[in-house]
Amino acid sequence: MKGVVLAGGTGSRLSPLTKITNKHLLPIYDKPMIYYPIRTLVDAGIQDILIVTGGKNSGDFLRLLGNGKDFGLKHLNYTYQEGEGGIADALALAEHFADGGGICVVLGDNIVEKSIREAVDSFRRQERGARILLKEVPDAERFGVAEIEGDRIAGIEEKPARPKSNYAVTGIYMYDATVFEKIHTLVPSARNELEITDVNNAFIREGTMAFSFLDGWWTDAGTFDSQLRATNLVARTQGSVSAEVFPESPIPGR
Ligand code: G1P
Repeated sequence: MKGVVLAGGTGSRLSPLTKITNKHLLPIYDKPMIYYPIRTLVDAGIQDILIVTGGKNSGDFLRLLGNGKDFGLKHLNYTYQEGEGGIADALALAEHFADGGGICVVLGDNIVEKSIREAVDSFRRQERGARILLKEVPDAERFGVAEIEGDRIAGIEEKPARPKSNYAVTGIYMYDATVFEKIHTLVPSARNELEITDVNNAFIREGTMAFSFLDGWWTDAGTFDSQLRATNLVARTQGSVSAEVFPESPIPGR
């Protein structure tokens, strides 16, 4: 299976930090944000990776990541998103790269504690369709939210005022090649973007959406609060931070 990291967008929720650089190049503790989703894919056994980016600072990704040496890779692929069409619009650019095969997509601001290899292996065994990773959260209204009925997902709502569950749809998605046909049928949402939630609902309607629960902590990093949270979680989990920084709080998940 191939991997795709989506690292475009304006990062407007992090302005003015994003006035002069791309959100995914900002630091999360001791590394640029984009290092984490690439590491997530590599740790799941995915070596053939496409970075989708855009905007004025796209050249910096090449300077930073080169051919992926920091991840033990010999090669990385890049493509450029014109404009700000949303997550599904960015994903459409991966069609040529996917070449008819399955893909694992990670949003460039999603950071996880544990390996996703088990879910990736489950998708490899799945004949067709999609698989998403869910995580129970206290603030589901910030995310896509899954309504679960028994062992299936009945539907996903994007940032609902009144979430039907506490299960956020994380930014890690696995799709078969029909994802691109589905994207081509989408219409822009109220925020004028092609929504990944609409893609996922198309698989749900078709009856081919599977899901796994994510192990360990998960966070996005697209707002000031979540970026700080991501930095703290990474620092504490690595255990490399001085005791003076977090005098009392325990390391999460230990
Ligand atoms: C996006 C998706 C949302 C998902 C989230 C995960 O939201 O639209 O469904 O739960 O990523 O990080 P965004 O933060 O880009 O608005």
